[in-house]
Amino acid sequence: MLPASLVTSLTSKADIGLENAIPLRQRTTTSGVRYGCASAAPSVQPDITLLDKIRTEANIFVPEGSLKWIVTEPQPGQFDFLQGDSIAVFARRNGMLVHGHTLVWHAAIPTWVSQLVAPASARMALGRHIGTLVSRYKGLIWAWDVVNEAIEPDDGIDYGYRNSPWYHCLGADYIDLAFRLARDADSKPPLCLSEYGLEYQTLASKRRRSALLSLLRHLRTQGTPIDCLALQSHLSADQVLDQDGLTSFLRQVVALGYRLAITELDVNDAKIPGTIEARDRIVEAHVSDYLDLVFSVARPISIATWGLSDRYTWLRQYYSRDDGTALRPLPLDVNLRRKPMWSALARFISAP
Ligand code: XIL
Repeated sequence: MLPASLVTSLTSKADIGLENAIPLRQRTTTSGVRYGCASAAPSVQPDITLLDKIRTEANIFVPEGSLKWIVTEPQPGQFDFLQGDSIAVFARRNGMLVHGHTLVWHAAIPTWVSQLVAPASARMALGRHIGTLVSRYKGLIWAWDVVNEAIEPDDGIDYGYRNSPWYHCLGADYIDLAFRLARDADSKPPLCLSEYGLEYQTLASKRRRSALLSLLRHLRTQGTPIDCLALQSHLSADQVLDQDGLTSFLRQVVALGYRLAITELDVNDAKIPGTIEARDRIVEAHVSDYLDLVFSVARPISIATWGLSDRYTWLRQYYSRDDGTALRPLPLDVNLRRKPMWSALARFISAP
């Protein structure tokens, strides 16, 4: 049986209004800002009610793990597209595009990739992988996260490069190489460099913004074919946005000619005390403030959340609340009902 508080909230007039409101997907036509959400492949997680909400709300499907290297090329040259193709079929059937996530990352790689040492073998592996994935889903891809999480200022390398297996084998040129390989395989979709941890007043955020900006500048002077900075946007409702620092960073990024996309939005409410209603309002306000800031610099090409419903969130693997209640980081609750965060998205996605 549902708890009384939930029953009340489900039947309130405001909630009925919210449930009847125009889906995000339809709002994307007025603003040109597409809406996407990450999810497992339908073949892996055949949650029919969730899939129904995904096709109603989103026009981009973001494979949460299905296109990662460990899934798509577990052994050298042996590709596995069962999951990717299940997403492709779902997307095509429902008139959606797919956000390609992700070609080059230090995580979710099979052992054979993490053991690459010789530059020639690494270059060969990168070429085969990028060429195969990009070609396979040509025409269906909205944008590609070509390189994911390239910086880690704590690693102490120039331009803040992360000491990833790719950097280890190929040095600083691996980013340029990856983008050129992707561009050669498909000239159409925007190619993104995706990064996290840029939003707050913390020293870590400041260092990450500064490293990323110098890297983006450097890549521009090299002519690397990057179109877009993908702001992962894993937010934490208990932290304070750096209004000035983040605005100035984004302005400089845009001035360099990069477009912006918001690609993995969610809001960690592990440290927000209070009732569910109060927490949801704080999450909504945090998302509104963040989107306000980004839109004040440039309208992003798309907004994607890292999941659609609180039913499935990666944050649960790493965070929990002291009061034992579940995290509420996404636009729909566990019963697939729209939350205040959904309204914040709706306002920005409908912006004329
Ligand atoms: C996460 C997935 O959501 C988890 O299910 C998985 O266990 C680990 O990866 N940044 C990224 C995403 O670019 O690929 C990550 O996805 C979340 C952080």
